[in-house]
Amino acid sequence: MTLSGKTIILGVTGSIAAYKAAELASRLVQREANVNTIMTEAAMRFISPLTFRSLTGRPVVTGMFDLNSEFSIEHVSLAEAADIVVIAPATANIIAKLASGLADDILCSTVLATKSSVLIAPAMNVNMYENRITQNNLSELKSRGFIVVGPDTGRLASGEAGPGRFAGISDITGSICQVLGRKGDLAHKHIVITAGGTQESIDPVRYISNRSSGKMGYALAEAARDRGAEVTLITAPSSLIKPYGVELYSINTAQEMYQAVRDIAPRAGALIMAAAVADYRPASVAKDKIKKANSSLTLNLVNTPDILDNVKGDFVRVGFAAESEHLVENARAKLQRKNLDLIIANDITAEGSGFGADNNEVVIIGRGDAKNKLPLLPKREVADKILDEVAALLP
Ligand code: PMT
Repeated sequence: MTLSGKTIILGVTGSIAAYKAAELASRLVQREANVNTIMTEAAMRFISPLTFRSLTGRPVVTGMFDLNSEFSIEHVSLAEAADIVVIAPATANIIAKLASGLADDILCSTVLATKSSVLIAPAMNVNMYENRITQNNLSELKSRGFIVVGPDTGRLASGEAGPGRFAGISDITGSICQVLGRKGDLAHKHIVITAGGTQESIDPVRYISNRSSGKMGYALAEAARDRGAEVTLITAPSSLIKPYGVELYSINTAQEMYQAVRDIAPRAGALIMAAAVADYRPASVAKDKIKKANSSLTLNLVNTPDILDNVKGDFVRVGFAAESEHLVENARAKLQRKNLDLIIANDITAEGSGFGADNNEVVIIGRGDAKNKLPLLPKREVADKILDEVAALLP
């Protein structure tokens, strides 16, 4: 999601994870956000304001009475300009101060003065995090509408292991996009999306699958989330990072995907089947690893259930058609046969498009004669074009 035109206050506090805030600032700037950094005294012991000034191209606010700043009465003007305040990393100290309503530094004062959403990403020692006082403070902040991302569990700077690690940057950016998009055109809509290539076991170590990476389905899930939808992503195995703020169901086989879709889609507003579902599976799965014995091996394959054909319910139905010839004709035939509202004809012969690629070249086809041929675009942009059409069909 582009963050163009959005103003984000990045509050950095004194944790060893402060250096990771530089990566966060960089990612937000890459998405075209205006990032105004506020650093506490303690944060400046870990990382220099110059780092953030260089990364964001904007002044860094380091104190309440900073005469060199472009902001007039700092905390008020910063607070008013913000679409969201993100405190990352957030120490136990800042969490306690915010929970108590203190305003003894520029960051706390800005949070008190803002009407925008506030997101915090705690990072601290495991004992400090698990201390009941910190937990009570976090509960208090959550009850007041603060969004808390993380912490992750793992090895900490102290050498101990447990909860307290700074959340992944993609989780924090994902949560920012979700918060900023929650009043979007898909707010209060539930969209179910399938992704990836199903795996049909032959024996304990081998399976039949295809070259789907999950990128198209995951891009759809993130795009729908960033437009305010409640998203359920039913995914075959994929190496992609789980999109933040999306309900994820992991499955392996076509049969498992069918069961998940059948259970969830009838409660949703739309089903978008971007997954490459196996049409056939081995008739039986060998209990032990099949030994190399003869010069050839014959596998007996049987049909898997066709999910789109069989799932009933009153929701918008969107399929994909991965075609290597007669793109539009074949896709239209599938739209009719599977009783779909939309089909996304996917030209898998186009250079840099389709399975595994970052881009896709598709034609969006509706029930009538309407069709929208798109050029080769990043999958995220294709996702938004598809969702434009889905939004128009939703009641
Ligand atoms: O994951 P990526 O690497 O990003 O690649 C994306 C993609 C190329 C996989 C994706 O854009 C795509 O085209 N997905 C559909 C691939 C496919 O299996 O097409 P199909 O023509 O075989 O199936 C038609 C439709 O029926 C699809 O929506 C499919 O999900 C659905 N289907 C297929 C088989 C089955 N048993 N049940 C189904 O519901």
